[in-house]
Amino acid sequence: MTSTTEIAGQYTDSRKLAARARLHNYTVAPVGWFKWVAQGIGFAPSERVLDIGCGPAWFWAAIADTVPKSLELTLADQSAGMVAEAVERARPLGFAAVTGIEADASALPFADASFDVVVAMHMLYHVPDPAKAIAEFHRVLKPGGRLAATTNGRENMRELYALGTTFGGSPVEPVADAFGFEIAERLLRDRFGNVAFDEHPAHMRITEPEDIFLALTSYPPGENASPAQLDAFRAAIDDAFAKAGGTLEVRKQSGLFLSRKVG
Ligand SMILES: C[S@@+](CC[C@H](N)C(=O)[O-])C[C@H]1O[C@@H](n2cnc3c(N)ncnc32)[C@H](O)[C@@H]1O
Repeated sequence: MTSTTEIAGQYTDSRKLAARARLHNYTVAPVGWFKWVAQGIGFAPSERVLDIGCGPAWFWAAIADTVPKSLELTLADQSAGMVAEAVERARPLGFAAVTGIEADASALPFADASFDVVVAMHMLYHVPDPAKAIAEFHRVLKPGGRLAATTNGRENMRELYALGTTFGGSPVEPVADAFGFEIAERLLRDRFGNVAFDEHPAHMRITEPEDIFLALTSYPPGENASPAQLDAFRAAIDDAFAKAGGTLEVRKQSGLFLSRKVG
């Protein structure tokens, strides 16, 4: 998933993202992902928050009851469909303000020092030049403001990606080459001079083979696999479930990076 056209096709609306998100129903964790991220950020009352690459605003729906309702949210995404869905979902949640805007992370349409918090969850691996986007996040933050960026590590769902090699998929987390843990740490430290990292304690116990099939065929190369490759993929999934006795244990590796704008 690298070209701009492919990314746009993925995120016209939330349907393909939802096919992948089905897998997250199998996550076993003391605190669910979105609530864990919100705890790590620690929103204070009345903060102005930019959520860039907000997607369908599932984050805000999941945490609305656990963060101050006085937050003022700007939900931004380069996909017009996502912005529309995000605003529709977030407006009834009771926040002090919810504004939606179509925007590219690499050229944000906001004045310097506009926000207390910038949230960039699982999106920087899509941006052609993540350092440029991080510079934009730094620019629009007020002095003392925080950037919260999330991404996946190379080991994320390794057991699943191994099955996707049947259609030529990467054997490890494909987003890690663009913005994995090591790259995130380096780029954030380069721009902000500080970065703190925490990894979400979680793993998966998958019981429904079809959910793996739907998730990994929701984006290239699985999305464009030939009938023969899809047959091989199904056989590999069935084989893995048979060997695992019907429940597949899968590693998860997702993390939160927090940086503060000094000065
Ligand atoms: C994997 S989704 C993450 C959605 C949401 N942040 C979450 O964690 O649930 C990635 C989102 O980033 C958006 N996106 C990709 N490249 C972008 C860019 N250059 N500027 C703004 N949004 C972008 C996509 O349209 C998509 O909605």
